[in-house]
Amino acid sequence: MGVPQHVAVIMDGNGRWATSKGRPRWMGHVRGAHTAREVVTYCAQHGVGQLTLYAFSSDNWKRPADEVGFLFDLFASHLERQMDRFLEHGVRLSVIGRRDRLPHALCEAIAATEARTAGGTRLHLRVAVDYSSRAAIHEAFALGEGMGSTRPGTNILPPVDLVVRTGGERRLSDFLLWESAYAELAFLDVNFPDLSIADLDAVFADYASRERRYGAVPVQVTG
Ligand code: FPP
Repeated sequence: MGVPQHVAVIMDGNGRWATSKGRPRWMGHVRGAHTAREVVTYCAQHGVGQLTLYAFSSDNWKRPADEVGFLFDLFASHLERQMDRFLEHGVRLSVIGRRDRLPHALCEAIAATEARTAGGTRLHLRVAVDYSSRAAIHEAFALGEGMGSTRPGTNILPPVDLVVRTGGERRLSDFLLWESAYAELAFLDVNFPDLSIADLDAVFADYASRERRYGAVPVQVTG
């Protein structure tokens, strides 16, 4: 199958990574941000056209307020620090999800990064923040959009080829449910901060070996 054109990553296991080392959960998120940077670089270098990262689910509001606040501060500082790298790698950054509940400073960092990277053509990086796939689908129906619309202003994305979830769980958890209809799924037992280049190589090699039939019959070998 070659290289997946749209990869989606559920970055799970930051908290467990930290707890298993006797460290506070926020350290797992800091290490996770470092891994996220490596994933972006990996995808840009391997010809992936679109990468969507699940950074904060609308259900993550149930977490303690200090963890939520820490994550938002981390996202904002990460965007600011990664700007040059995005420009260097031809990365266009977009954020999907609700913005009306996000802190003002984060909204400003998002808007600034989106504006400055708008010309990036190598990799479209989308970060899902306060995102719910069911809400996005519901909203698209309410707007009367054809499903599969990728018009700006809707949170319905192009189809996903490969979903990668770290952290050992085997579920999609309200992430890109519509877009993942025919996606190949890779569930890894490694916690996100420990995700390595070798893990990504293995996932991409496995993807390349899969036959995607979209409901059709297998390709016949004739001879
Ligand atoms: C899930 O792990 C992870 C999150 C809710 C936050 C994801 C954020 C990052 C990886 C850092 C920043 C990313 C970007 C794109 C700037 P968890 O906390 O649910 O882990 P657990 O299941 O072990 O508790």
